[in-house]
Amino acid sequence: MKTSILKILRETSEYTSGQDLCNLLGVSRTMIWKAVKQLKEQGYQIESVSNRGYKLISSPNVITASEIGSILSTKWIGKEIIYHQEVDSTNLEAKRIGEQSAAHGTLVIAEKQTNGQGRRGRYWLSDPGEAAYFTVLLRPDIQAAEASMLTLVAALAVCRGIELVTGVEADIKWPNDVVLNGKKMTGILTEMSTAIDYISYVVIGIGININISRFPEELVKTATSLYMETKEVYNRALIIAKILESFEYYYAIFEKTKSLKDLVGEYNSKLINCGRQVRILNGKDQLIRTALGINQNGALLVEDDDKNIETIVSGEVSVRGLYGYV
Ligand code: BTN
Repeated sequence: MKTSILKILRETSEYTSGQDLCNLLGVSRTMIWKAVKQLKEQGYQIESVSNRGYKLISSPNVITASEIGSILSTKWIGKEIIYHQEVDSTNLEAKRIGEQSAAHGTLVIAEKQTNGQGRRGRYWLSDPGEAAYFTVLLRPDIQAAEASMLTLVAALAVCRGIELVTGVEADIKWPNDVVLNGKKMTGILTEMSTAIDYISYVVIGIGININISRFPEELVKTATSLYMETKEVYNRALIIAKILESFEYYYAIFEKTKSLKDLVGEYNSKLINCGRQVRILNGKDQLIRTALGINQNGALLVEDDDKNIETIVSGEVSVRGLYGYV
């Protein structure tokens, strides 16, 4: 109901009468009044003038289900939105509901995570107020071996969503870190649950450093935020919404061929490693190669000094720049 009220109020810069809201939503005046009161308590500035109705003046920088739901124009992602002020991890929560009957496209969002999960068992800093932590649950009709490509699809969606809202053109560090000026701004963690011959669900968790103004000592060298790079504060819900809309766009392209065939060019144009020397770390072993770009399965093609080309599959190794993170 709050989502619908926000949607309606956003459609016009004029007042919307209480009666119109009642008619459009099929509820009583009291219910409208109560929902508007709750929205005001959440920080929405809504003018209510007798005989004229309600007008939305401003919205808080929140990432609640009603805020995101009211600006999201997707076909299937986020038709169900689960918002937590605080949760252990949106990936853990998405996996819990994935074990039950949650639908393809369900979105889990949190303001704060107490156990934010990073790749390779690392933690993901998840303080409230300035970032975005969310996970999309998918029930894709693909083979388990194809699922790792979804993470590259998500990286493209993050770049496009961020560019649409902020104009900032981010890079990708293979396979799925989104970086700005050589530092990590977004992390993506894709996990899946499989049965013998099919995927039960895939969860794609995305953590974006949006308005963060400082990082703890151990992250200062490698992490950055949109705010730190541009000195602007951004609307977090809008960024999430544009990323989800972009995900739908790229997912539709991926789904046609169940490969990255039609996305390789765009991905490689954003790939910061392209043409650069990279260190490929595999346990204690390290190889130095030149990165050429990805193939249609999302593997990284690298070349040695004798121009022999090898294929690096994500998950097996990690890739670093010669002198640091990228
Ligand atoms: C990485 O290590 O780069 C991946 C980080 C992924 C963090 C996001 S935040 C939202 C979602 N929930 C989690 O617990 N992790 C992912």
